[in-house]
Amino acid sequence: MARFTLPRDVYHGKGSLEELKNLKGKKAIICVGGGSMKKFGFLDRAKKYLEEAGMQVELFEGIEPDPSVETVMKGAEAMLKFEPDWIIAIGGGSPIDAAKAMWIKYEYPDCTFEDMCKVFGIPELRRKAKFVAVSSTSGTATEVTAFSIITDYEKGTKYPIADFEITPDIAIVDPELAETMPTKLVAHTGMDAMTHAIEAYVSTANCDYTDALAIHAIEMIQADLVKSFGGDMGARDRMHNAQCLAGMAFSNALLGIVHSMAHKTGAVFADKGAHIIHGAANAMYLPKVIAFNAKDPAAKKRYGVIADYMHLGGSNDDEKVALLIKELRRMNDDLKIPHCIKNYGADSYPVEQGFVPEDVFLERLPGIAERAIGDACTGSNPRQPSQEEMEKLLKCCYYDTEVDF
Ligand SMILES: NC(=O)c1ccc[n+]([C@@H]2O[C@H](COP(=O)([O-])OP(=O)(O)OC[C@H]3O[C@@H](n4cnc5c(N)ncnc54)[C@H](O)[C@@H]3O)[C@@H](O)[C@H]2O)c1
Ligand SMILES: [Zn+2]
Repeated sequence: MARFTLPRDVYHGKGSLEELKNLKGKKAIICVGGGSMKKFGFLDRAKKYLEEAGMQVELFEGIEPDPSVETVMKGAEAMLKFEPDWIIAIGGGSPIDAAKAMWIKYEYPDCTFEDMCKVFGIPELRRKAKFVAVSSTSGTATEVTAFSIITDYEKGTKYPIADFEITPDIAIVDPELAETMPTKLVAHTGMDAMTHAIEAYVSTANCDYTDALAIHAIEMIQADLVKSFGGDMGARDRMHNAQCLAGMAFSNALLGIVHSMAHKTGAVFADKGAHIIHGAANAMYLPKVIAFNAKDPAAKKRYGVIADYMHLGGSNDDEKVALLIKELRRMNDDLKIPHCIKNYGADSYPVEQGFVPEDVFLERLPGIAERAIGDACTGSNPRQPSQEEMEKLLKCCYYDTEVDF
């Protein structure tokens, strides 16, 4: 038996933010990030719609990118005080993920962060509030997923919370919100979405339901991401749907080790002055992981199917895998994303020597590899890496060397 879970309603298309008017309830808390939603007027609009619905509205503002455990706890306290029956999270993956974790703590004040991280171990929610997610970036698709990623800055690592309990009740996928994204964010979140779709398609938990969504998302992202990066707003709007389809796929088929590696490298070099942004990390590691996973015959065949849908040519699966890797690297070039950590500048653009020094990388490598193997996304990867293989793979991701093992 397998389960396939999505939000009860997905409102999509321009103007769908207005659906907030039709919610029925007494009190809504809006959880939002550092200012982009306010600046572009979406926060005011959301508040106005909720007030039109007759609700008392409170704001929880300032959720930082890659939200921390502390922010989650603070937000839950605000919720416990205000007692909302609707939680409305607006913004990118960061505020929506933080709000999901706040929701758990609001419903179960005794639940610790450790308790939350037990995979599929969240008790029944919706005793106090329902959840609406309004996405403003085109990548994480957290508006439809069963996941929330919270960073423990003391440990320098990201922890995924995973349970269908935190799949939002309502997703609003309004492309108007995505039109204000700066191009760097378009690039990173778009490649995050591509990684979601490809990892879901080759995941050991794939099924007919997730395959259809993943393949269509891949075709759309290949057609529209670079155009969206170049300023084509039609393509930008379609990308907002494409990333959501990819999210529906991976929320149910799970992911793989590209994400395991991205989770464990994102914040671990923060003391050297920057983060490796989630989508950029995925974009750099994906071609390497495809080469590694393609040693598994079932995965190789599936990469071949992806290459076919992308019209890349190739007369056998080995050729198709090579062409798929080449196409993804071309997209990275077009999107100004480096190919490896060594060339990853503090501003995320390609440079000769990036912000992660080689000696620091090598010294931290065994720990990163061990934690990546232990990440919740590793279980559904088509090939299970040993400690030695994971270290080798991460080295290829540092130096941009070929994966031949
Ligand atoms: N829950 C999931 O299923 C899932 C999946 C993948 C990644 N994640 C997590 O999501 C987080 C990343 O989320 P993200 O990539 O959406 O970015 P983000 O939410 O961290 O936002 C990045 C920056 O972009 C700004 N921004 C957001 N939308 C904007 C817009 N429309 N116009 C202008 N500026 C805008 C924000 O203010 C912020 O400064 C990471 O913590 C990652 O680990 C979660
Ligand atoms: Zn992701």
